[in-house]
Amino acid sequence: TLHSTGYAASLLDSVQDHVAASPGRAALLTLVYSPIVAIVLNVLRQLLWPRDRSLPPEVFHWIPIVGSAITYGNDPLGFFFKCREKYGDVFTFILFGRKVTVALGPKGNNFVLGGKSTFFSAEDAYTHLTTPVFGKDVVYDVPNDVFMEQKKFVKVGLSVDNFRAYVNMIEEEVELFMQTDSAFLTYQMNNINEWGCFDAADIMSQITILTASRTLQGKEIRDNLDKSFSDLYAALDGGFTPINFLFPNLPLASYRRRDEAHKKMSDFYVDIIRKRKGTFDDAQDMIGALRSQRYRNGRQLEDHEIAHIMIALLMAGQHTSSATGSWALLHLADNVQAQESLYKEQVEYFGNSDGTFREMSYEEMRRLPILDSVIRETLRIHPPIHSIFRYVRTDVAVSPTLSAPAEDNTYVVPKGHYVLASPAVSQVDPKIWSNPHIWEPTRWSDPEGVAAEAFKTYMDENGEKVDFGFGAVSKGTDSPYQPFGAGRHRCIGEQFAYLQLGTILATIVRKVEVRLEPGCSFPEHNYHTMITMPKKPRNIRYRRRALD
Ligand code: HEM
Repeated sequence: TLHSTGYAASLLDSVQDHVAASPGRAALLTLVYSPIVAIVLNVLRQLLWPRDRSLPPEVFHWIPIVGSAITYGNDPLGFFFKCREKYGDVFTFILFGRKVTVALGPKGNNFVLGGKSTFFSAEDAYTHLTTPVFGKDVVYDVPNDVFMEQKKFVKVGLSVDNFRAYVNMIEEEVELFMQTDSAFLTYQMNNINEWGCFDAADIMSQITILTASRTLQGKEIRDNLDKSFSDLYAALDGGFTPINFLFPNLPLASYRRRDEAHKKMSDFYVDIIRKRKGTFDDAQDMIGALRSQRYRNGRQLEDHEIAHIMIALLMAGQHTSSATGSWALLHLADNVQAQESLYKEQVEYFGNSDGTFREMSYEEMRRLPILDSVIRETLRIHPPIHSIFRYVRTDVAVSPTLSAPAEDNTYVVPKGHYVLASPAVSQVDPKIWSNPHIWEPTRWSDPEGVAAEAFKTYMDENGEKVDFGFGAVSKGTDSPYQPFGAGRHRCIGEQFAYLQLGTILATIVRKVEVRLEPGCSFPEHNYHTMITMPKKPRNIRYRRRALD
């Protein structure tokens, strides 16, 4: 450290000498050297300037403004674990000019996700990203209490009654896909000895959008998936990336395409809603559910509000579910024993004597221990969202160890910072889990184990529930396991995601055996996408189990 300080100081001296020696060259030199000077001053500030002890420690970085963006962006979990060693559970890093205070561990999750919305705001952190994509007057474009009402409306559509109808629809969609898509050509050729191959994430994203449209999104969307709707979706999705989060407005084609796609998609949904008016709408889908809701003041949702909530749900559910499905399938392909246990569970519960399977019911689906633990374990190691942000609206005190009540040497997280929780860290923390990076679904079957304990805390099985305005939910903010977030912004798609993923995985495993490609190692995390995806190659080989 001293060495670099000395070097930096001499560099600064020599820059000053140059400028003093010849004022005529000053302008040119300033241009050439100013980035260097900025870097040097930034480094000196961090090394020599006495740190303000009331603030959390700042992660050392070379380049001002950019800060730790590159290290964080390439491998956020690696970055967080390294910072924890150096600075403890609470520290601040610079992310393209934003000051982001990270709070790690279960207590950190509790601090950020359990914080009051008057202190920590999700809408201030996200609206520049989400409003151009979802549209006006919904989610983070409205005050928090209005959004909480909207979450309540959505929950009406996510009813057990609807779920009962969805299981068979999802199964049918997966079967149809396997019977018709070219990725499953070898399966279609009815040869049980031949292996075919597909890209895990490609097929999962298609199956996810097909099944979500058939169920939640509704018939009109499903019917248009093969046509214009998928292009619109792709263009909109291209505007929902980490770049859009970091830079709200850039004069790029992707931003223009996003805005055009939003307008067309919004019109598309509004058109569906108008056409349903005056007809007997008994659809068990989300548009049907939203049309019958009223705000507390008695007002019905306007067409564009329904449309924009539908877009928000499409975006919220698509990548999260398809990423989780891809990881689960890759792990099953890698762990043949787990795959066979899952297959046997299907045979045991649903197998007919002639080797075929009967349909699953929703109630049965929710009580399959192996299928359940496959999804839980996949979400533990590969939670789709690695960083959850909030904007700090007012100074908030926090102790360096996140203990409550705060200790004497408490930090203040100032207004204007962001806070960040990463349940992804506590979900693979070696201090909490044994062999944290090994995908081991059986860890969930030990009723006394760490996993069961974490899950109980997450579900607050014995504890009291809290109502943030969208019905009673378990608090669960201090669990080390929280792939669906916690507190007032907790996911409401959790049960739907389990239903969708469970039915998709069960249907695939009934029909084919899967393996990783020989010689290929298990894919690493790609953190450059909004949702953590498997890096390519992520191919899966498959072989038909039996002829129907
Ligand atoms: C919120 C994860 C599927 C709708 C969240 C949050 C997480 C999450 C971590 C909290 C975000 C925050 O606190 O800022 C997941 C995972 C999924 C999944 C892992 C699948 C495996 C879905 C689906 C839907 C959905 C299928 C819709 C049907 C929502 C909504 C919120 C949310 C509406 C609330 C956002 C808020 O209150 O700010 N989800 N999600 N999610 N999710 Fe999900």
